[in-house]
Amino acid sequence: MKVNNLVEADETTSTSNIEVASLGWGEGGKKEIIKLVNVHKIYRQGEIEFYALKGVSLSILEGELISIMGPSGSGKSTLLNVMGLLDRPTKGKVLIEGIDVSRLSDRELAYIRNIKIGFVFQFFNLINRLTIYENIELPLLVRNLSKKEKRMLVQSAILRAGGDLSWLAKRPNQLSGGQQQRVAIARALVTSPKIILADEPTGNLDRYSGKLVMEEFLKLNSMGQTIVIVTHDPEIANCTKKIVYIKNGEIVKVDTNDINFSKCIINTQ
Ligand SMILES: Nc1ncnc2c1ncn2[C@@H]1O[C@H](COP(=O)(O)OP(=O)(O)OP(=O)(O)O)[C@@H](O)[C@H]1O
Ligand SMILES: [Mg+2]
Repeated sequence: MKVNNLVEADETTSTSNIEVASLGWGEGGKKEIIKLVNVHKIYRQGEIEFYALKGVSLSILEGELISIMGPSGSGKSTLLNVMGLLDRPTKGKVLIEGIDVSRLSDRELAYIRNIKIGFVFQFFNLINRLTIYENIELPLLVRNLSKKEKRMLVQSAILRAGGDLSWLAKRPNQLSGGQQQRVAIARALVTSPKIILADEPTGNLDRYSGKLVMEEFLKLNSMGQTIVIVTHDPEIANCTKKIVYIKNGEIVKVDTNDINFSKCIINTQ
């Protein structure tokens, strides 16, 4: 399960080998959080090679809210996993805030991932034998924080994710799908990452719960959080400012989008 990747770094992880390249700046002087340059991903099974990504170049700027759309099997999850350092490209470069990560060790990658990236998955990936509090606390375990500091971060994260403090003592199976996804968002937020990567975060939710989760992403983005969402749902994509279309491992179109907030926000008052 991918959640393990969030806790595989430890305090002793050295960053001394990490060379900070000159920081990239994109359009309008905004900082490039993630830059992919001519990224290829080839899966090999015996003699057979499968090209899941074929030369993808993409910049994600600070504060952007982007969706990635495309048919099943087009490479969306592969792209997100490469962006989020869960997977290495076969060829091409991945830069995270100007750091070329291609030559970093697995340990160094895990360190960068832990401090800079938060993940949200379609099936929440919460651990049922842990409480909600313990699930959200997971990415903090590799940090040298006091119990009190961790408690404050967990409480702040659940509130920022649109959740409720009363959930913290419960277990995932005591919450609805929409509530569990807000917990997963809190777990992604607890480290205050530079970027949140979400792979079909509303794919397992009913329409109403999906909209509520999207509303949380919109609120976070309005406060400056950079977010990339993979989705099959045009309604979700239409609530993001940029839509990247991918087909057969290639970016085929990038649309900019004027968000119609009245269609994206559910008035729950
Ligand atoms: N570990 C792997 N080994 C071999 N092939 C793989 C592997 N992971 C993915 N693929 C192939 O790469 C292609 C892209 O997969 P990916 O999961 O990125 O698609 P996707 O766009 O996320 O699809 P979906 O919308 O169904 O989630 C698919 O054809 C898939 O079969
Ligand atoms: Mg996928």
